[in-house]
Amino acid sequence: MKKYIENVEKTIEIGMIIGRALKNGDIICLDGDLGAGKTHLSKGIAKGLDIEEEITSPTFTIVQEYEGRIPLYHFDVYRIADSEEMYNVGFEDYLNKNGAIIIEWSEIIRDILPNDRLEIKLVYAPEGGRYFTFNAFGKRHEDLLRDISERLT
Ligand SMILES: Nc1ncnc2c1ncn2[C@@H]1O[C@H](COP(=O)(O)OP(=O)(O)OP(=O)(O)O)[C@@H](O)[C@H]1O
Ligand SMILES: [Mg+2]
Repeated sequence: MKKYIENVEKTIEIGMIIGRALKNGDIICLDGDLGAGKTHLSKGIAKGLDIEEEITSPTFTIVQEYEGRIPLYHFDVYRIADSEEMYNVGFEDYLNKNGAIIIEWSEIIRDILPNDRLEIKLVYAPEGGRYFTFNAFGKRHEDLLRDISERLT
């Protein structure tokens, strides 16, 4: 699925729709150039999960935990040197916890990403705004993507 998202308000809006659809065990991988909108999309997802705390992207924190309708584990792996460093932050354990996971810059750790996941690529549109391309891997995330696209119509 590919969507044109014309401004930051729409980024938040689609994030909220994604957040409302999320279930325990869902993994959302966000990739795109610097400033593409990954953190703002994460903010929208958090709102959709009824998280009241503001999502931030602190410089030296790889993972932040939030409490909402279900827990959210928000990873930003931009500053990680290699996948091995992910073991030190307990990435494996997070995969088994109750809650949903967002990973900004997931392609940096592509060799250790679970096979089942929803990838969203954010690309600058020449006319302003962004294109979001959704790709689901595995049955549960195919179902999730179907749920999201139904909520969009
Ligand atoms: N759909 C959109 N159209 C235009 N601008 C947008 C859109 N979505 C977000 N933005 C703007 O893009 C800027 C960068 O957003 P954000 O910080 O979320 O990007 P990022 O991908 O997380 O960047 P980084 O890789 O540095 O973490 C913000 O100023 C935000 O308002
Ligand atoms: Mg960011």
